[in-house]
Amino acid sequence: MSTTPVKVAVTGAAGNVSYGLLFRIASGALLGPDTPVELRLLEITPALKALEGVVMELEDSAFPGLAGIEIGDDPNVIFDGVNVALLVGARPRTKGMERGELLSANGAIFTGQGKALNDHAADDVRITVTGNPANTNALIAKSNAPDIPAERFSALTRLDHNRALAQLAKKAGVHVTELKKMTIWGNHSATQFPDIFHAEVAGKNAAEVVNDQAWVENDFLPTVQKRGAAIIEARGASSAASAAAATIDHTRDWLRGTAEGDWTSMSVVSDGSYGVPEGLISSFPVTTKDGNWEIVQGLELNDFSRGKIDASVAELGEERDAVQELGLI
Ligand code: NAD
Ligand code: LMR
Repeated sequence: MSTTPVKVAVTGAAGNVSYGLLFRIASGALLGPDTPVELRLLEITPALKALEGVVMELEDSAFPGLAGIEIGDDPNVIFDGVNVALLVGARPRTKGMERGELLSANGAIFTGQGKALNDHAADDVRITVTGNPANTNALIAKSNAPDIPAERFSALTRLDHNRALAQLAKKAGVHVTELKKMTIWGNHSATQFPDIFHAEVAGKNAAEVVNDQAWVENDFLPTVQKRGAAIIEARGASSAASAAAATIDHTRDWLRGTAEGDWTSMSVVSDGSYGVPEGLISSFPVTTKDGNWEIVQGLELNDFSRGKIDASVAELGEERDAVQELGLI
C-alpha cells in the first residue's frame, strides 16, 4: 500500500447519495485497494450531528484503506489539499419552487464551493458534480475557480449512461458487459439524448441489432430520460445507491482510464465539438487516461440525433443565461 493518502472531499455527506458513496470510497472502489484514502466531509451545520453518526459507522466498518476522516461545515477547511472533490450536496427542488429560485439557492452553494476549491484544493484536483442541476452547478463552480483548469470540472451523466446500458441489454437479450460505446449527449435532465447509434452489442452496431426505431423513440429514450422521475415515484425518494455507484464509476474511470476500444459519457466543458457552444458543461462520449479526458471525435450524427442533441444543448444554454442573469457566473 502506498503511504500518502489521497484526500477525497464529499459534500452533502449526511445525505442519501453519500450514504451509499462514502462506504464504497472507503472500501477502495474509487482508488483501488492499495491507495489509502482520507475522507473530508462537508455538511451544513444542522446536519453535522447526523454526519457524526455516519462517521461512527465508517469507523465501525474497519476499512483497511481508510486513513482518516475530517468533518466540518466550512468548505475552506474541508477542501484544504483535496485531490478529488465530489460535490453531491445541493438543495433539491421543493413543491412550488420556481426554477430560478432553485438555480439561485444552488448558485450560492456552488459559487462558495468553487471559490473554496480555487483557494485550497491540491494542484491536481478533479471535481465531479452530482448535485442537481449538475451541469449548471458545475458551470457555476468552474466559473468561480479561475485558477483551476476548466477541464478539471465535470458533471455526472454516468447514471444516465448506466441506465441506457441496462435498457439496451434487456432489449438485446445480453448482459451489460457485452455492450460498448454508449453515449449520453447534453444535459442531465429529461432532454438528454441517450445514443445507441454508435453503441455496440457484442461488437455489432446496436441500432442495427435492435432494428426497431419505434422502440428507440417511444420506449428507450423516454425510459432513460425519465428514469429519475420513475424512481422518485416508486421509492418516494430520488435515486441514491445507483447515483452513488455512478459517481464512483465516473470518477474512477476519469482517474484510472476507460478500457481500450470503449468510451464513457461525462459532462465536461465543451471546446465546440459537435457544435456544442464552447464553455458549456455538456455530456459527450469521452475516453480517459491518467486523470485526463478527451472527447471522441468524428462520430456521424443522423438528423434524429442532431435534433435531440441541439434541444438538450439549448436547455443548457438557457440555464447558463439564467445563472448569468443572477450574477453567479
Ligand atoms: P439529500 O437531500 O438526501 O442530501 C443532500 C445533502 O446535502 C443534505 O444532507 C444537505 O444537508 C446537504 N447540503 C445542502 N447544502 C449543502 C452545502 N451548502 N454544503 C454541504 N452540504 C449541503 O439528497 P440526495 O438524495 O443525497 O441527493 C443529493 C443531490 O444529488 C441532489 O441534488 C440530487 O438531485 C442529486 N442527484 C443527482 C444525480 C445525477 O445523476 N446527477 C442522481 C441522483 C441524485
Ligand atoms: C436522477 O436522475 O435520478 C436524479 O437526478 C434525480 C432526479 O431528480 O431525476
